[in-house]
Amino acid sequence: MKKLTTKEAINLLAVGEIIAIPTETVYGLAADARKSRAVKKIFKAKGRPTDNPLIVHIGHIEQAEKLAKNISDEARLLMKHFWPGPLTLILEDNGKVSKWVTAGLDTIGIRMPNHERTLQLLRKSEIPLAAPSANLSGKPSPTCFEHVERDLVGKIPGGVNGGVCEVGLESTIIDMTVVPPVILRPGGIKRHEIEAIIGKVALADGSIETNESSEKLKPKAPGMKYAHYAPNAEVFIVNGDIAYFKSLINNYRKLGKKVGVVCRKSNQYFYKRAHLVKSVSVDGKQLYKVFRQFDDTEIDIILCEMFEDEAVMNRLMKASEEKVLS
Ligand code: TXA
Ligand code: MG
Repeated sequence: MKKLTTKEAINLLAVGEIIAIPTETVYGLAADARKSRAVKKIFKAKGRPTDNPLIVHIGHIEQAEKLAKNISDEARLLMKHFWPGPLTLILEDNGKVSKWVTAGLDTIGIRMPNHERTLQLLRKSEIPLAAPSANLSGKPSPTCFEHVERDLVGKIPGGVNGGVCEVGLESTIIDMTVVPPVILRPGGIKRHEIEAIIGKVALADGSIETNESSEKLKPKAPGMKYAHYAPNAEVFIVNGDIAYFKSLINNYRKLGKKVGVVCRKSNQYFYKRAHLVKSVSVDGKQLYKVFRQFDDTEIDIILCEMFEDEAVMNRLMKASEEKVLS
């Protein structure tokens, strides 16, 4: 896939094309949020349902003031503290972007990504960029340029190569249109960091829900109701000590299954009997890469350790469809 200079990227966006952009969380597939024709191309390239709204990326806080209305003092405080950074604010939409971006909702998700090349692009062009993660729907979010290439080569004219994404999991999404604010998706900015600035916030049930029950709960982030990426192998979360974990590996081996393990770095040597052991740091930075690696193997069963981090646990719960062994 063509690696674009900032100038080439801006020129393509200006004529209504879509391109991949790096962010600190995951790569995004971007279009000018004001151009319906361009935004529609995103849904087509990803195979994304059109009732799932997109996050708008901006380079200056003042742009948020233009795209949203009735912004609360708390929302402004969060912008000041965490932008640029992995935090998306849901605010009241004031109709400046295409209806395709908001999927007809009266709210808009906005964030300022913290990646040098994309910030430069946003600030030079002043184009608000609608961008979902740059994967095909149903694949893990891409955390390096090669992942984007694998999913989207031939479907888009190119992308900006920004190396490996520093955070590796998507942004935290917080709904600032309700009191108290509600975290719709845990991510790069942690709940305690937010609460240190604006006081107590809630965590949406839907953010750690199964697909079936989230339909009933109608979570406010429409993306939650869609089936999420799960590796080809069957995924389980293991809630128990290392002895229990090892007994599970042995049991599956006896059944003739090839077993993979996702664990924290400090534990990887305990699981020698597994066929493939992949460690991720406590913040989950390598999780999506590991998911893609598992898909390249013949593993039948993936057993995952529990993680303390809400964002990591949220993604594991989705990948396992909440199947927990204990
Ligand atoms: O880190 C990220 O947020 C990455 C990078 C590229 O910025 N983007 C990302 O986008 O994860 P996507 O489309 O994969 O996930 C966006 C989520 C979806 O679950 C969507 O439903 C929700 O944000 N969302 C967007 N606008 C919303 C709104 N107005 N109200 C509620 N949820 C919204
Ligand atoms: Mg996504």
